[in-house]
Amino acid sequence: MTIQFNDETFRGDYSFRNSPWAIKRFPFPFHEDSYMYSVNMEQHRGGPAGSVFEKRFDVDEHYVSEMRDRALVLAEDPLRCQSLPHMTLAGWDLLELIMVSKSEDYPDLFELHRDGDRWRWVNKPLGIDDTFTFMDETTLPYGPLEYITRQTQGDFAVLDQRDDNLWMDAGMVTTQADWSLDFDIGMNFFEWHAPVPLAHELGIFKRALKFLMNVQQGAPARRLNWTMTVNPLLDTSPENYHKWGIQKTELTAENIGAKQHLRVELQTFYRLPRSNALVFPIRCYLIAFQDLVTVPKWGRRLHRVIRDLPEELATYKGFIANRPLMIDYLSRHDDGLPTSPGV
Ligand code: HEM
Repeated sequence: MTIQFNDETFRGDYSFRNSPWAIKRFPFPFHEDSYMYSVNMEQHRGGPAGSVFEKRFDVDEHYVSEMRDRALVLAEDPLRCQSLPHMTLAGWDLLELIMVSKSEDYPDLFELHRDGDRWRWVNKPLGIDDTFTFMDETTLPYGPLEYITRQTQGDFAVLDQRDDNLWMDAGMVTTQADWSLDFDIGMNFFEWHAPVPLAHELGIFKRALKFLMNVQQGAPARRLNWTMTVNPLLDTSPENYHKWGIQKTELTAENIGAKQHLRVELQTFYRLPRSNALVFPIRCYLIAFQDLVTVPKWGRRLHRVIRDLPEELATYKGFIANRPLMIDYLSRHDDGLPTSPGV
């Protein structure tokens, strides 16, 4: 196998680590020294070799451990995966999209053999070899959405498109930045975005929705979003806020380099063929401040972005109380040199 999978945890002893390879390909999200919400969407046509944009569903060294963490979350809280009855077809569409993409993009790790509607799926990293009938739920251990997203990094929101809007009618959400599928299920694009500050007034959501409704099959799009997480936690859900919220108060000048993580989401958008649903994979990448500053232009720029970020955004993203500690740490990695546009 080409990828060496880490054996690590995202809870308890937090043994999660990024290798030098993972640091090098980290999707640093800032193109300039300041940040404001925008309709930052572009075509998802594959990216530079080795980058997180290269493949349709990026598989990296954290794959096996992330899937283990997802299984733990689901065992405690099965409502992290939901699909309203009319979304089963979209679930099959998604299973097909992922199986075809992964078997083509990573032939050494995944195999898909199709003989009519008789399919055999081999997932070598997770030790799975299943034969089933496409479109027959009784031949899989879970529904199609749950089956395939238990084997794919990132969260998945599956949106039904009707009445000139998108509706969150299905999803698998265990690695989210403080929002809840169980709360948002059945909501439309404007309803689930209601808590976001400033962006509504800037007209961002109206324009973004227009763009999304026109995403065509075979022409996916993407954007990056980011926030901050203390400790390498995947499951920062409202359901478990009582467990992780308190950890934000444990940050100190001594431990911030190891504990504070920049959390970047690679969000992609795919039109699904039979259901016409839109799927929204949200792939989370974590990097500790102490690793991030090993790339001098990243440390320099992150300092300026965090220092100058509008208060509303730092509050919404949940790090307003720790911002002074962050600025203090990052300022020591900003030599004042000008930065050039681009990442
Ligand atoms: C935040 C879902 C597309 C911009 C959020 C939140 C959810 C969400 C659940 C958290 C809201 C909360 O606080 O409860 C989705 C889904 C999308 C989608 C399912 C696909 C259909 C987009 C697009 C944009 C966008 C295309 C483009 C501009 C934002 C912004 C935030 C946000 C700016 C605040 C994030 C932050 O500051 O960390 N989204 N979103 N979203 N969304 Fe979306």
